[in-house]
Amino acid sequence: MHTLDRDIQRILVSEEQIAEAVRSLAAQIDRDYSESENNLLLLGILKGSVVFMGDLMKQITLPLEIDFMKVSSYGSGTSSSGRINILLDLHRTDLSQKDIIIVEDIIDSGKTLSYLVEYLTLGGAHSVRTCTLLDKPSRRKVDFTPDYVGYEVPDEFVVGYGLDYDEKYRALPYIGILKPEVYTI
Ligand code: IMP
Ligand code: MG
Repeated sequence: MHTLDRDIQRILVSEEQIAEAVRSLAAQIDRDYSESENNLLLLGILKGSVVFMGDLMKQITLPLEIDFMKVSSYGSGTSSSGRINILLDLHRTDLSQKDIIIVEDIIDSGKTLSYLVEYLTLGGAHSVRTCTLLDKPSRRKVDFTPDYVGYEVPDEFVVGYGLDYDEKYRALPYIGILKPEVYTI
């Protein structure tokens, strides 16, 4: 039990289901990049991806490096501002030798990841793909399809396993739907 459990309306993706998705995504990545030798770079988007990233990197058996970027699209609330600001950039000179997989917690409008794919491609990356634990395809505002998806979820505000509301709930071990009264009062 977690002290924040009482703010959760219902569990959408359990710990077991998350673990199963992580194993399956890692197996797909292992298959797809088996020829890429030392060139795999998992690029986590802070802060939401950290829990997923930590689990995913342990399940991938290929050699890999990790790095992080921080961008802002959401403020402190539950709706997207749509503007992307890079708050922490990559400072590397070896992108042309890297097969990058951007690791995200969730895709909503698609603006963050479509922007980052273009940014890293223009920055000279050897290849760029995207891996998200959760996808809310019904919320898309730009045409964007991730390469690896754990679970498609409905248009509900979810927290846990890295995802926050107002910086809270990131440490919950499952993905839960937040009770609306928690963010409407
Ligand atoms: P996008 O640019 O609209 O696709 O925004 C994706 C980002 O919005 C994610 O990295 C999350 O930080 C945030 N986000 C979108 N939906 C949710 C949600 O249901 N819970 C928590 N964060 C969310
Ligand atoms: Mg995020």
